[in-house]
Amino acid sequence: SGSSPLVVAMDGPSGTGKSSVSRLLAARLGARYLDTGAMYRVATLRVLRAGIDPTDTAAIAAAVKELPLNIGTDPGRELIELDGEDVAAEIRGGAVTKAVSAVSAVPEVRDLLVGLQREIALAAGRIVVEGRDIGTVVLPAADAKIYLTASAAARAHRRNQQNIAEGRGDDYAAVLADVQRRDTLDSTRKVSPLRPAEDAVLVDTSELTRDQVIDELYSVVARQISAA
Ligand code: DC
Repeated sequence: SGSSPLVVAMDGPSGTGKSSVSRLLAARLGARYLDTGAMYRVATLRVLRAGIDPTDTAAIAAAVKELPLNIGTDPGRELIELDGEDVAAEIRGGAVTKAVSAVSAVPEVRDLLVGLQREIALAAGRIVVEGRDIGTVVLPAADAKIYLTASAAARAHRRNQQNIAEGRGDDYAAVLADVQRRDTLDSTRKVSPLRPAEDAVLVDTSELTRDQVIDELYSVVARQISAA
């Protein structure tokens, strides 16, 4: 029902439409929503603003020791602040997007944010948590686990359309190269590499409309809960 505890782990690479369908799934489930990628992006913004080289792991670890991060969990309203400042737009920009893989690979950054993510999920009770390592590391006891995939071409297309819509230009080739570069970095790194949990259900969004994806996710969650 609409108020019993329910934790849904939504993982997968970027560009699958994961954020928008996770938000809509949360709304449909009457649940909260947590975008963990946004948290790594805020940590990255902090590092960049401090003038730290994104490859200087010791300096990064020190810089995030104190991270005045405020993230909302209302699926209908994005709220993401650094030191009280709304940084929702800035964390999607090119500078952060380029540096975020390096910053999110630093163990101290992951330890800090994973701890926060667990606290937020526990406090919410009923929540869709979206990221890369939610079902494997952050919330291995989640009630439902989904791994969203799509071809690199489909993901690059989606991200490029998003860039056009948000005024960041049209460059499919560059976006595809970035998608592939980040796939490699995210799946080969030593700390929390991107991979599906053994008990996750794989959903490929390449050939599906957004509404079809949400219907599929809703029925996968219903099936996983009733099988438990
Ligand atoms: O989903 P996104 O593009 O906003 O994620 C930004 C980066 O953060 C991406 O390179 C992978 C990283 N990330 C992570 O390492 N672990 C998570 N749970 C979420 C995101």
